[in-house]
Amino acid sequence: MPMVFADIHCHILFGVDDGARSEQEMLELLDAAYHDGTRELCFTPHYHPAYFGASPEQIDAAFQTANAYVSQKYPDLHLYLGSELRYEQSFSDWLKSKRCRTLNGTEYLLADFLSGDALDMIVKAMLNVINCGYRPVLAHVERYEALQKRQEELRQLKTWGTIFQIDAQSLLGGFGYGAKKRSRRLLEEGMVDLIASDAHDMQSRSPDLRPCYYYIVKKYGQTLARRLFYENPMHILRGEAFR
Ligand SMILES: [Fe+2]
Repeated sequence: MPMVFADIHCHILFGVDDGARSEQEMLELLDAAYHDGTRELCFTPHYHPAYFGASPEQIDAAFQTANAYVSQKYPDLHLYLGSELRYEQSFSDWLKSKRCRTLNGTEYLLADFLSGDALDMIVKAMLNVINCGYRPVLAHVERYEALQKRQEELRQLKTWGTIFQIDAQSLLGGFGYGAKKRSRRLLEEGMVDLIASDAHDMQSRSPDLRPCYYYIVKKYGQTLARRLFYENPMHILRGEAFR
């Protein structure tokens, strides 16, 4: 079976957050993602009014540029839009005003926190997202210090319906020893739902998923690798329930 990836977390759209800074850089990132094997790609610019708040018009314009390039050069690469929302209690107002988006217009919402945010805050936030009618996808779950060795809370979050995403780079050590250890432990415990690139640039945070995919295939086999890199992210993009 050919290796095909669905990447639902990246900062490849240019000029809208701390990801690609120019159109050229965005096109290089799209080339790299395609050649690595990605065929379904959801752009998720950061959103928080105090840190990142590109207007929907700016995002749509960058998306159109990406689409025009891809439809010419890589007709089998499908592009989608979402946001990576930096959680705060007023998040549902931001969604209603369409300043930020769920993943491909589904109920799935990609949300992140500061790496030092408190456990209680993260747990309450996920519950709040669920109570507001969304399904939270917790971005790079391995990078929050407060969730370290908190198996009970992690299990509780999962029971409520939180989806756990980890960054490919974490598993291979790109975010240091702690993130590597935590991501591998989560994987070992069967807690990980999907792996994404969280790509920002070509230098230190590239869109490559393949090395991580090989790592999973070698350690856990192709069935799990395909689930984490393609099937589960596709369920999200289609708005389907899964587990
Ligand atoms: Fe991100």
